[in-house]
Amino acid sequence: MHIDIITVLPELLESPLSHSIMKRAQDKGLLTVQTHGLRKWAVNEYGQVDDYQYGGGAGMVMMAEPLANAIDELSKERTFDEVIYLTPDGETLTQKIANTLSLKENLLLICGHYKGIDQRIREHYVTREISIGDYVLSGGELAAAVLVDAVGRLLPGVLNDETSALTDSFQDNLLAPPVYTRPAEWRGMKVPDILLSGHTAKIEEWRHEQAVQRTKEKRPDLLEDEAL
Ligand code: ADE
Repeated sequence: MHIDIITVLPELLESPLSHSIMKRAQDKGLLTVQTHGLRKWAVNEYGQVDDYQYGGGAGMVMMAEPLANAIDELSKERTFDEVIYLTPDGETLTQKIANTLSLKENLLLICGHYKGIDQRIREHYVTREISIGDYVLSGGELAAAVLVDAVGRLLPGVLNDETSALTDSFQDNLLAPPVYTRPAEWRGMKVPDILLSGHTAKIEEWRHEQAVQRTKEKRPDLLEDEAL
């Protein structure tokens, strides 16, 4: 998979995408991520990419022209399956959306700043608008990093058996069960006997029960939400 990201702050994306599993995905050639500083397509020599909003009101808006030129230029390189604008008013990112996006070849992500991007770009170019939650970030970069991570780790070959996404929370509408590591007793608190029994089938059964119980307690909405 290839992901292009248009941003005014490419530096913000460097660290989250160059460690751990995202690094491994890129080292293995399973994922390539390229950030593109929007100022390359600025409308003047001062690097202008935003302007005051029509109708008045505080806050700048990212201009249509630099964004359109950036998208057009990148579209010459590859055909994008989705052009995604990260925005708090988009559909909320779920595991289901991450699963769907992980099946695509080429994604283009647009990070907004200030008051957002000119509405005409949303209407003309954007195919999907995604929010990572009901709160407002200073810009779309951290949301883009979250999306790339959630999608990138699902690409075949990125995770090994130990980190397999199949046992993640949300994959089957259930939260993941509790986990323990050595020692078997720590400060008087014991690891459940079943986990030390070596009985694989019973352990799986216990894990499933725990997952159901945990989901009922913490996220009962998931059990009702067949749409996930
Ligand atoms: N940009 C600002 N806030 C955001 C959010 N919650 N999700 C996605 N992009 C954003």
